[in-house]
Amino acid sequence: MRVMLVGSGGREHALAWKIAGSDLVDELICVPGNAGMALEPKTRCVSLAVDDHDALVKFAVDEHMDLVVVGPEGPLCSGLADKLREASIDVMGPDASAARLEGSKVYAKELMEQQSVPTASFQVFDKAQDALDFIKRNPGPCVVKADGLAAGKGVIVCSGQEEAKDAIERIMLKKAYGPAGDRIIVEELLEGEEASCIALVAGGEILMMASSQDHKRALDGDEGMNTGGMGAYSPAPVIDEELESKIVDTVFKPIVDGLREQGTDYRGVLYAGLMIGPQGPKVLEFNVRFGDPETQVLIPRISSDLVPALVAVARGGLEGQELEWDSRPAVSVVLASQGYPGPYEKGKIINGLGNASALEDVVVFHAGTKKHADELVTWGGRVLNVCALGDDIRKAVDKAYKAVDLISFEGKHFRTDIAHRALERLL
Ligand code: AMP
Ligand code: GLY
Repeated sequence: MRVMLVGSGGREHALAWKIAGSDLVDELICVPGNAGMALEPKTRCVSLAVDDHDALVKFAVDEHMDLVVVGPEGPLCSGLADKLREASIDVMGPDASAARLEGSKVYAKELMEQQSVPTASFQVFDKAQDALDFIKRNPGPCVVKADGLAAGKGVIVCSGQEEAKDAIERIMLKKAYGPAGDRIIVEELLEGEEASCIALVAGGEILMMASSQDHKRALDGDEGMNTGGMGAYSPAPVIDEELESKIVDTVFKPIVDGLREQGTDYRGVLYAGLMIGPQGPKVLEFNVRFGDPETQVLIPRISSDLVPALVAVARGGLEGQELEWDSRPAVSVVLASQGYPGPYEKGKIINGLGNASALEDVVVFHAGTKKHADELVTWGGRVLNVCALGDDIRKAVDKAYKAVDLISFEGKHFRTDIAHRALERLL
């Protein structure tokens, strides 16, 4: 079969590595892909813009694609899956109306409220003055969130009234995230440990993947700015079997049922970002796609073929689908450009990739890289994801960092404490 994969980050390289490794796949086309994806067997990168839906649909039809997998949220929220389905192409990703679960935090909150899904208490505001009056009456810690997509930046955790006032003004009056900030949510600040739960969903059925944990801050000790994610590990020991079934029953099932009541057969990935606190798991956010960098630690742990499950999702039924998991934990360390998530330089030559990838149970997924003449150079904020499997979490961590040390480029920045929460549990 012929598969098209939309996207160009570390998440998509991990998916490409797995899809290209399937015996069912004759050709994988990555749009636009990256330098690492281009090196996978049976794989070709085609440079079309991910927001040019008409061009993507035409390409998928002309090239007789049997399956399209959409990586990022942008094209899902703007209706790429709808258009592909109208053109009778099987696509792994929800329609725009269901993608509002990620594209509108107000929609997600309202669906959670309707379905009694545990989440932080919240208020919705479409006028800045009303929000400012509210925080004057409720001056404690809170979280201010822009309703729409803001490239992961529209959430501001505030320790009190002054910070909340600044956040409201930035989002609603200065329009730091454009129309995404026309409405905001002010919600209760939750305490606890965060974890990510990701499932494949279709035909009302739910196939849970292993748990994982992201590291969003730029610096060790969870300090510094929020980033797209500096590393991940799986499984997240904060989620045991009992908690996972509670999460399925109190989060995933009610949301999938609620979508069906609205007439939506959700076909794609459903990701719940959770806070595990004293009152049990509560939802921080939903995403309608695989997590990045969580995917980079889930994919190496899947020992069965993923493609049949992706096809089943696209065709609307998961019955009989199972995934086999390697019991060994996986760790992924992001190598970023100096300055990320702020401004950074591009074009630094990357060395040592071959030596790192040659280590047993190590795989390096590219994010922001580019082939320039005969060299591989940095071409984004997050450059590489260095992933390792180990017999236990400590061995996985040690192996990942051994591989990290073998790779060099000017300004290489990474966190040295990925998986610290899992390691602390061992003490
Ligand atoms: P989101 O994009 O909604 O997941 O928010 C980004 C990050 O902000 C989350 O990963 C949390 O670290 C933090 N966050 C969001 N909502 C809350 C909340 N209600 N309480 C505490 N932290 C939160
Ligand atoms: N790792 C967080 C996200 O994918 O949104």
